[in-house]
Amino acid sequence: MYQPISRVVLLILTSIALACQPVAENKKTTDTEMKFTDHHTFARPEEAVITHLEWDAVIDFDHHLIKATAAYNISRATGAAAIVLDVNNLAITSVTDGRDNPLSFTVGEEQPFLGSPLTIALEDTTSQIKITYTTHPEAAALQWLSPKQTAAETMPFLFTQSQAILCRSWLPVQDSPGIRFTYRARVQVPPGMLALMSAENPQIKNADGEYHFAMDQPIPAYLMALAAGDIGYKQVGPRTGVYAEPTVLKAAAYEFAEMEEMVIAAEKLYGPYPWEVYDLIVLPPSFPFGGMENPRLTFATPTILAGDRSLTSLVAHELAHSWSGNLVTNANWDDFWLNEGFTVYFEQRIMEAVYGRDYAEMLAVLSMQDLQATIADLTAKGQAADTHLKLNLQGRDPDDGMNDIAYNKGYFFLRLLEEKTGRELFDAFLKKYFRENAFKSMTTERFIAYLNEHLFAAHNLPVPEDLYQQWIYGPGLPDSHPVPVSDRFDKVDAVVKAWAGGTPIGQLISQEDLLTKKWSSHEWLHFIRHLPQNMTAGQMQALDDYLRFTYSGNSEILAAWMVHVIRHEYKPGYANLENFLVSAGRRKFLVPLYGEMVKTEAGKQMARRIYAKARPNYHFVATNTLDEMLGWQENETS
Ligand code: BES
Ligand code: ZN
Repeated sequence: MYQPISRVVLLILTSIALACQPVAENKKTTDTEMKFTDHHTFARPEEAVITHLEWDAVIDFDHHLIKATAAYNISRATGAAAIVLDVNNLAITSVTDGRDNPLSFTVGEEQPFLGSPLTIALEDTTSQIKITYTTHPEAAALQWLSPKQTAAETMPFLFTQSQAILCRSWLPVQDSPGIRFTYRARVQVPPGMLALMSAENPQIKNADGEYHFAMDQPIPAYLMALAAGDIGYKQVGPRTGVYAEPTVLKAAAYEFAEMEEMVIAAEKLYGPYPWEVYDLIVLPPSFPFGGMENPRLTFATPTILAGDRSLTSLVAHELAHSWSGNLVTNANWDDFWLNEGFTVYFEQRIMEAVYGRDYAEMLAVLSMQDLQATIADLTAKGQAADTHLKLNLQGRDPDDGMNDIAYNKGYFFLRLLEEKTGRELFDAFLKKYFRENAFKSMTTERFIAYLNEHLFAAHNLPVPEDLYQQWIYGPGLPDSHPVPVSDRFDKVDAVVKAWAGGTPIGQLISQEDLLTKKWSSHEWLHFIRHLPQNMTAGQMQALDDYLRFTYSGNSEILAAWMVHVIRHEYKPGYANLENFLVSAGRRKFLVPLYGEMVKTEAGKQMARRIYAKARPNYHFVATNTLDEMLGWQENETS
């Protein structure tokens, strides 16, 4: 898999040159923004880059360690005397070249959230480097679960979460989304377990626990992934299947039975699915995200197992990343909206194709509600700059700046472009964009240049410079925003209004038999979000008696209802609130619930009591956010 130096270096230099091209009349584009830089890596790709990884690893569940060797093929500019990788909390035992000759190396001073540079001196002829290392038991990307924290409670479980810059805590790597490499791996897990990666995967366990993996398409480090435990597989379509703990497998296969249909819908929109196989693994409940788009194998939370396929837009989202993100990748985390905004747009289009326009419009209205809430919140906190699509995360943990804005403001910006040019032109443009930029990274400025040339100039349309300034380089929600309309939600609004006006819920339900029977979970979510802000406990009880929100098996409904439980001190909901917080580790649910609790003194006490119990179940990604919110000290026992 060795690539000739000159070709790769040329490619890098071309990318730098392209990234530095001035963008026509873009006044806010300064020199610093134009550099092809990533503030969150120590790598110096203009000198030397990794191109292929051979990873050989032993997973030690007893000590919560991975002992591994990472051998890279590298590609270097003439005269480059060193290659720099990122490491975070890794114990490096040795570094050699491909022939086992030692190479000298230094691990630089550790910096907050970035870790350290691993600088390896290169000899004139070095074309491979081989690093032997051990991870730290507290490695940020890794979550080691005891059997008790899994569904069947029989075997331990391990999973990784590398995005945005956590890969370096389990693999010494150039951890920048602009640097791609292929990989092969051999992974040893205890017999009886299955191991999976973001690669060509096994479907059944073998006796000795040794598994081999291949990812022959180049990917950035944030898409490196590993999961190991008592895992089974069930096929759901020709190219699609689900992995889960055996007791969860049947429910997972039912919930995600429509995956193949989604892949077909996505291909019709933006071209052939480029990764051969699309599988999904349902992880234990402590997985900190809804989903993570690891190539060939989406990682997902079990909180989307609603039993009625109502939360599968998450699958559409992670699948959409197979194009937006995994194929055309944000060059650095300031351009995160190129990954997530495109993906929400694409997700919406898949949902519309599979479930119809009125269904997709409900999702769009919910997305607008989320966006407005986030903008209000960030603006109130004096963080208006974080409401621009193009971010400046220099000196910050990228995780702090990556929020709803990239997703939903990004979505509405792209929807606006679609509305302006018409769907036909816009779709043809996107298809070409994904084809021509496949396996490359993209900056906001290069995207604008591409858009100007291939969408606007190509069809003699005026370049909407003012829109770029408002949406990409300006704060808040521009007046030009599209307005999603949902008739189905209008009906929900009428019911909320009647209830708030005094009509008993029982009467409304019997009048509108459609209420309980025909509403989707999105309608219920809209209903709960629009309940009055000053309900009495009696009113909440009346709702609960009929609608049983406190006991909902749908995590979105439960999470939205629990905000009211806290705000209105609705005591009958407390036990289930606690159960939910202790069992589910999805940050999107935890943050609003703990956030609501800390608004009062009594709530803060409750939050800290529950957190002490729940914290051992949470991944670093969640505790990193929540520790700060709750003023949790490292030495507090949990
Ligand atoms: N790539 C993200 C998850 C992510 C973002 C991890 C930033 C680390 C840093 C993933 O595609 C995602 O957006 N997940 C969402 C679900 C989606 C339906 C909006 C989530 O986890 O809630
Ligand atoms: Zn996403």
